[in-house]
Amino acid sequence: MKIGIIGSGTMGSGIAQVAATAGCKVKLYDTNQFALDKAKAALEKILSRLIEKDRIDADEKSRIQNNISYVNDLKYLSDSDLTIEAIVENLDIKKKVFSELETYVSEKCIIASNTSSLSIASIAASLKKPERCIGIHFFNPAPLMRLVEVIPAIQTSKEVLEKSTRIISDWKKVVAVAKDTPGFIVNRVARPFYGEALRIYEEGIADFATIDESLKTLGGFRMGPFELMDFIGNDVNYTVTETVFTAFYFDPRYKPAFTQKRFAEAGYLGRKSGKGYYDYDKNGGIIIP
Ligand code: NAI
Repeated sequence: MKIGIIGSGTMGSGIAQVAATAGCKVKLYDTNQFALDKAKAALEKILSRLIEKDRIDADEKSRIQNNISYVNDLKYLSDSDLTIEAIVENLDIKKKVFSELETYVSEKCIIASNTSSLSIASIAASLKKPERCIGIHFFNPAPLMRLVEVIPAIQTSKEVLEKSTRIISDWKKVVAVAKDTPGFIVNRVARPFYGEALRIYEEGIADFATIDESLKTLGGFRMGPFELMDFIGNDVNYTVTETVFTAFYFDPRYKPAFTQKRFAEAGYLGRKSGKGYYDYDKNGGIIIP
């Protein structure tokens, strides 16, 4: 099966690894050559680490790497059976890419988006054949997170839903089919998790570390809300909250917090910028004060 991935950032590169590991031929496309080089180097590092841990051997590493080619023109995705878009979370930019993509791919190609919070119906509306469009939402890091939400838009055909679900299950992921509503399942449930933690901090009830420790120790969470927001990126996480809040007609349950807005504006994005609610060393480890 031939897979085209659009955007070689955090999500696109992870999804490419998942598909290549499952034996698909993947073309990973980005407009930014630096992002493509970075994705290639990151995969090399990840696979070498898996060899060290005895999880794969050298042949498997080469097989996965040989399954991915890195391309800088959307036209190269023309022979794809399925394309998954993972570019910036901006409806107008996504729509533009989708309508261009449709001019290159075959009638049968499924065109999917990894969007966290945008409506699949509105993305599908940019296509001449909107019934081929669907949401396929991976979680970060894609190779490790087992759940994938599959979101049919009201325009999506039954056949496209069935085929997409089958492909993602073949990639050894657990599929949750969700309706096309803001935040789908996981991002909606997660809003109050972050939002309430930010409000507890803003009300002076406890600091970041105490809130995180409480949830990890008692709640059994692998990461507390602040560690998780730093991991996702405060810019990305804030934008998702703002989108869900707006899309639910300003329901106060999803109200964004000024603390996170200011952190995002200041560039305190989390691990990726070296500073967020915590400080990080260059390997992404938390610096204990
Ligand atoms: P990212 O910023 O790491 O990567 C985006 C990539 O898209 C960049 O390499 C950029 O050069 C490229 N790009 C931007 N505009 C482009 C265009 N017009 N054509 C081709 N490439 C273009 O972003 P990330 O975090 O991977 O997110 C991508 C999508 O996945 C977004 O829709 C986001 O909401 C969604 N998502 C993000 C998750 C996360 O935890 N970061 C989790 C699940 C979904």
